[in-house]
Amino acid sequence: MRERLPAALSREAALLEAMVAIAPQGIRVGCRVIRDEDEAQLMPAEAHSIPARHPAMRQASGAARWIAHLLLADFGQKNMAVLRSPSGAPVWPESITGSLAHDEEMAVAAVAPVSRIGSIGIDVEPAIPLPDDILALVAIQADVIDAVDANLAGRLLFSAKEAVYKAAYPLDGVILDYEDIAVNLNTGHATTTTGRRATLTYCIAPRIVVLAVVSIHRVR
Ligand SMILES: CC(C)(COP(=O)(O)OP(=O)(O)OC[C@H]1O[C@@H](n2cnc3c(N)ncnc32)[C@H](O)[C@@H]1OP(=O)(O)O)[C@@H](O)C(=O)NCCC(=O)NCCS
Repeated sequence: MRERLPAALSREAALLEAMVAIAPQGIRVGCRVIRDEDEAQLMPAEAHSIPARHPAMRQASGAARWIAHLLLADFGQKNMAVLRSPSGAPVWPESITGSLAHDEEMAVAAVAPVSRIGSIGIDVEPAIPLPDDILALVAIQADVIDAVDANLAGRLLFSAKEAVYKAAYPLDGVILDYEDIAVNLNTGHATTTTGRRATLTYCIAPRIVVLAVVSIHRVR
């Protein structure tokens, strides 16, 4: 059972403030505490496109799309369904790049015009240390994380790789592994083995959110 809503809503407001502060110009962001009734936020076509059966997953996807619908309306795209493609990637209107994520409590979304931003990826994580066994799977020698709070550096690294993957996949259709993405948290950049370069911005309180922007032009 989820915690009482009022306490969660104050974290939602704090996260929105933190996300707006890190969003590069041209990118609209939003967040929403996932509610038990949020599956109802899915438009019929969206509900049909999402195979997950577990209620919590459908609630999370509904909460993320509630944000996406609002952000798309800001760009003049009203009542636009954001379907889930068979790859898992969300399907945006042609002129838009966007990304969705959710953890157990919060859903987040980012949207921007393709003309200004190449491709966006977003991830959200609770601000707690990453277990060592998962960090061992995620980190590679090329990663640079020493400028970040040591307790959260691993979680931030994990989140950055997920955000970069979500931005790169729609451009290349390649399934990257953690070892295919080198992240420098000190400079806020990442590179992929497919020749993509990402710019990263992030917040760590009240949750970790990473935004990755990948140019449509390859670096090599
Ligand atoms: C994309 C992926 C990393 C998401 O991770 P997750 O922790 O399950 O879920 P998150 O809450 O962070 O993100 C979920 C959202 O990601 C988006 N997403 C899923 N697959 C995607 C893809 N291939 N490209 C871009 N976005 C994608 C969807 O919008 C999804 O939301 P929805 O289920 O409501 O439609 C994971 O689903 C995946 O495809 N992994 C395979 C590749 C991998 O793990 N590589 C190592 C990481 S670099």
